[in-house]
Amino acid sequence: MTFRSFVLGLSASFGIAWLFVVVVPFFKMRDLQPVTFKEGLDTKEGNYFPKRSGRVANGAAVYAENGCYLCHTQVVRPTYAGNDLYRADWGGLKDNGEGVDTRRETNAFDFQYEKFAQIGVTRFGPDLSNLGRRVETNYAKGSDPAAWLYAHLYNPRAAVDRRQSACPSFRYLFEERKVQGAPSNEALPFPASKEGEEIVPTSAAKELVSYLLSLKKDDVVPASMNFSPKKGEKK
Ligand code: HEC
Repeated sequence: MTFRSFVLGLSASFGIAWLFVVVVPFFKMRDLQPVTFKEGLDTKEGNYFPKRSGRVANGAAVYAENGCYLCHTQVVRPTYAGNDLYRADWGGLKDNGEGVDTRRETNAFDFQYEKFAQIGVTRFGPDLSNLGRRVETNYAKGSDPAAWLYAHLYNPRAAVDRRQSACPSFRYLFEERKVQGAPSNEALPFPASKEGEEIVPTSAAKELVSYLLSLKKDDVVPASMNFSPKKGEKK
């Protein structure tokens, strides 16, 4: 190999990756325009505006501080890059209870109000893009979804079906305090280390849980942004 071809090869291998991973997405996304719902194709009108409620900004910071992104992604990949949508409830629900398929891919608007898009480093744990919806409909089953998440963060192995969970426990996001009067309705269903005490979430835990509950990827998007054009058809 000559020095010349070595340098050319080296520049090509880094240059092409840089082009497709940095330059192309930058030009595609630096000037995002609102996407509109089209009459006849979509069931809604006007501009698409992603809805998000909860302590998104503070919660995202707690999420980042605790390295959740190391094991959890927040990207439901576009189908050309690997089909994530077949996985149960990752990007919306197959049936939202009214017979409507709300599954969809992640779009750039999904990270609105977050300083960093927490797309994640590895997928050691399940994707959390649609976690809020999943907890509400599948795990909490009518009880308080926040309570389910507090229990998971405190002791991921407490649930019968998660005895071998590899999700770390984040006990330092909770504190033990004396029960004053009636037990707090935020208290976790685990015994505190001392008699007469209860385990309650700290404000960081509350921000994190509020953020996790805001993770929903099943609002109606314009058909032009949807993976399956069929879903844009009027029902
Ligand atoms: C060391 C890797 C790792 C880290 C770091 C991690 N998790 Fe997990 N997490 C997992 C694994 C593995 C699972 C799957 C096992 C289970 O369901 O408990 C999981 C499951 C979960 C689930 C249940 C998801 C579902 O739909 O079943 C939630 C919620 C969750 N993690 C939240 C978090 C949050 C919030 C953080 C940061 C505070 C975090 N995890 C950090 C590995 C991790």
